[in-house]
Amino acid sequence: MSDMQKIMETVMQYAPDKEPAPLSQNRRSPIGTPLSRVDGRLKVKGEALFSAEYNVENPAYAALVYSSVTKGKIAKIDVSKAEKADGVLAIVTYENAPKMNDPLLFNPSGGDGSAASDLPILQEADVHWNGQPIAVIVAETQDSAEEAATLVKVEYETAEAEVSFDALKKIAKTPENILGEPPEIKIGDAENALDAAEFKVDNLYSTPRYNHNAIEPHATVAVWHDDESLTVFDSTQCIHNLRYTLAAIFGIQPEALRVISPFVGGGFGGKGTMWWNTALCAMAAKVVSRPVKLSVSREGVFRIVGGRTPSEQRVALGAGKDGKFTALIHSGITATTTHNNFPEQFTFPARHLYAAENFYVGQKVVNLDTVANTFMRAPGESIGTFALESAIDELAYELKIDPIELRRINEPTKDPVRDVAFSMRNLTLAYQRGAEKFGWNHQAPRSQKDGKWLVGQGVATAYYPYYRFVSTARVRISADGTAVVQTSAHEMGMGTATVQIQHAAERLGLPVERVSFEYGDSNLPQAPFAGGSNQTASNIAGIAATIEKVVRELLALTGDDSPLSGLKYEDIEVRDGGIFSKKDASKGETYTSILQRVGQKYVEAEATSGEPSEMMEYSMGSYGAQFCEVRINEETGEVRVSRWLGSFDCGKILNPKTATSQFRGGIVMGIGMALTEETLFDERKGRIMNASLAEYHVPVNLDVPHIEIIYNDIPDKHAPSGVHGIGEIGITGVAAAIANAVFNATGKRIRELPITLDKLF
Ligand code: MOS
Repeated sequence: MSDMQKIMETVMQYAPDKEPAPLSQNRRSPIGTPLSRVDGRLKVKGEALFSAEYNVENPAYAALVYSSVTKGKIAKIDVSKAEKADGVLAIVTYENAPKMNDPLLFNPSGGDGSAASDLPILQEADVHWNGQPIAVIVAETQDSAEEAATLVKVEYETAEAEVSFDALKKIAKTPENILGEPPEIKIGDAENALDAAEFKVDNLYSTPRYNHNAIEPHATVAVWHDDESLTVFDSTQCIHNLRYTLAAIFGIQPEALRVISPFVGGGFGGKGTMWWNTALCAMAAKVVSRPVKLSVSREGVFRIVGGRTPSEQRVALGAGKDGKFTALIHSGITATTTHNNFPEQFTFPARHLYAAENFYVGQKVVNLDTVANTFMRAPGESIGTFALESAIDELAYELKIDPIELRRINEPTKDPVRDVAFSMRNLTLAYQRGAEKFGWNHQAPRSQKDGKWLVGQGVATAYYPYYRFVSTARVRISADGTAVVQTSAHEMGMGTATVQIQHAAERLGLPVERVSFEYGDSNLPQAPFAGGSNQTASNIAGIAATIEKVVRELLALTGDDSPLSGLKYEDIEVRDGGIFSKKDASKGETYTSILQRVGQKYVEAEATSGEPSEMMEYSMGSYGAQFCEVRINEETGEVRVSRWLGSFDCGKILNPKTATSQFRGGIVMGIGMALTEETLFDERKGRIMNASLAEYHVPVNLDVPHIEIIYNDIPDKHAPSGVHGIGEIGITGVAAAIANAVFNATGKRIRELPITLDKLF
């Protein structure tokens, strides 16, 4: 058995019993059942192989050397000592690196690019950010590689660098577009309406840098075959674009490249684009003519993988006594670099959440000499909802209207800026259900006390857009009554395989135990990247189209001797492991019977979903209401989140267990964003100072209360299977709900994240 076969087998071998489950007549629909994750068993047994764990023959190990200055040139790089260290096989710097083509930038609107930055990779002496990889050490062991990395001596000619966000804000520029959307939208005259408003708020909010800390740091194993074709095991959210991009970098055909990535230990957007480590690993393998493993250290992830940009946002709201918004302004600045193009879309929520007579939304950017910023769970929407939903709360106090009621008053009947209908929107219902279940009881600020603890409640709206992209799948139905679904999807722990098995089982009329799902391999049909919460909806559409095709082919195989003879696709339904007449339930035939009669072992089809035209016709988003209770120690200023309830409106929920877990994970990450996480950045050196989990504080168990999750479970009639992605919405609104609760508890409004005790007292 080849290595590749073994890998696919581990991916598939979840089924607890080898006997196919019986086909029952009164089968419960697998959609909406809390099926445990099909990969869970392998993971808890430690048998799920992550990228760095693949056992390839005779591997060498790589470590990176990072620049310690922000900008300039390498004047001298002395590797003589490092070269002599034990076990060192090669040291590659810009002076001896093989020629590699410049990487293609990732473009969210499409194309083959995957790179987070379009800078040449290790081809020149120039340094563009503090932490840029400047040498790769390849050695017999990881320890030797890391030891040798410390022995490389570098002298730099430094140049003036732009690293101060605050200093550059005054000269911020308007970018061409924000993920293909206009950077600015004006409806009416918002500034004049604000001036004239009877009630108003107008404030600045700021959010810091945040860095990615997935459990699994980025890792790659690269294996060249005769210098002509390349296999990479890589921790990625973007299998196909990574394949095209690496092929272009090394000047080989995409067909000669295979990316394998069945398990990813969390991505959150940090593995959505290609960072230098992947290309450098493949380069190192070429140089030493051996497979190479490159596991980026935790510190390394801080140095070479971007995160959330700092932001400064203005939100101004004007309203009459009735609470109706006459002006809504959301503007501000984020940072990018000259070598990427990702203005974080913090104004997107303001474009779709509230009716207002006059609108102004606008975003600007400054270019800093840093690692490229990137997607981080609900990029834009998470920081944007912090500002917007804090401001709504502030206005509610001005108006003396309950904050939930104020949101209801301004609930739009159609998209406020696009002038199209919503495909689905039950936010008011989510608030009603949430308020009841949570026990919403909003008292005056600083009026609730429990011993030394000030207690407050806060609420905020969660919002994330709906995205779907074209997706291709292959489905095989075998004569033994089992089916295999294949597409190059990504499993980062969110339940991708589980929900697609449920979905395919439903469409094929088979028990879930008879359906397997193969994914995480660029040799499989092309599916989109796992980002923008698109993956589930996209793959549902691709798999649905493919199942229709394979069933049509099966029907075409039935001859005159079949009970299905003469029936058209429109006349049949798929259930109980076969095809049946809609009109006459007794008329039908199992897959096994059809295939056996024609003497075929299986029937297989490949098909591609339609274009996501629903996104053009409708305003499509997911919504939610975040409720929390916080307790603040009056003596120390310590903030504790004591209760949480998230009430979501995200279309049809495929699996309550995996969905609840996704929502909860988002909320946990939001609690970190609100209270503890912050990248400390030295503006003199342009260097991240807290590049470790000891100093960059992600929430731990004691920081997180029980999180209750409810959802409307109302299908979106305009989305395939009624389904919306849910990976990102959980984090949105969280920081605002906490800031609003902190105000309710203390009477102090914090407009600068994270909300640490020094800001409170
Ligand atoms: Mo998401 S931040 O697009 O992985």
